[in-house]
Amino acid sequence: MSSAAPVGVFDSGVGGLSVLAELRRAMPHEEYLYLADTAHVPIGARSDEEIRDLTDRAVSALHARGVKGVVVACNTASAFSLSHLRARFAIPIIGLVPAVKPAVEATRSGVVGVLATPGTLRGTLLADVIRQFADPAGVKVLQAVSRELVPLVEAGQADSSETQAVLREVLSPLVQAGADQLVLGCTHYPFLAGSIHAEFGNCFTLVDSGAAVARHTRRVLAAENLLTARTETGKVTYLVTGDVDAARPVFATLVSQNVHNEDHTPAAA
Ligand code: SIN
Repeated sequence: MSSAAPVGVFDSGVGGLSVLAELRRAMPHEEYLYLADTAHVPIGARSDEEIRDLTDRAVSALHARGVKGVVVACNTASAFSLSHLRARFAIPIIGLVPAVKPAVEATRSGVVGVLATPGTLRGTLLADVIRQFADPAGVKVLQAVSRELVPLVEAGQADSSETQAVLREVLSPLVQAGADQLVLGCTHYPFLAGSIHAEFGNCFTLVDSGAAVARHTRRVLAAENLLTARTETGKVTYLVTGDVDAARPVFATLVSQNVHNEDHTPAAA
């Protein structure tokens, strides 16, 4: 595998753009191939098997395009697919786990909230990190679930009054229970930061895994001698499996918030 090859990034939709922004900050010279399975988003409410199949198809598509590693920038896909993908593909596969550890370290109230999709709450990765980090520290973890938030972000509605109403409903119980940290257990949710702050002020510190995953990806590629030798800023190619015209304006808005100096236009996968 050549170190000049691009890094693959997969998400069901635009959520992984929040991770891509961190990857580009950590490794600006790499080239990236970002695949959004917009034909099937949201995957968070699908069955375990469907989530595994869709993730497998997406990672196969990236592999066929010659990527040197894949970041599964989706908590739901990671929760069901990582071990299977690692057994199947001979390239580094990096996944996401909700950032419970830093939230446990930072909490003063001893109560941490996790906002996630039904799939991520059902998967074993979240239960593992709660058992590993929260339980021994005596920190209580409260889970909040929503099926609506991912489609709202996909529709470019992250800051709408409808989104704020959903957030009010799902997060108010966490505030009432004293949570002072909110783990964003889905890569779409960093785009909701403005709405969460508008609704709840500074009740919560928002914690996500994007920067930690980017650092981890850098370490993994370095260990495999796969970091690029390029010195110029790497380009990003966006692929979507659904309607390109529908995806274009949302990508343009979200990418321009996080990444600069590039062509925002997604191409069809
Ligand atoms: C989705 O439901 O498609 C988003 C899943 C995730 O990022 O966890």
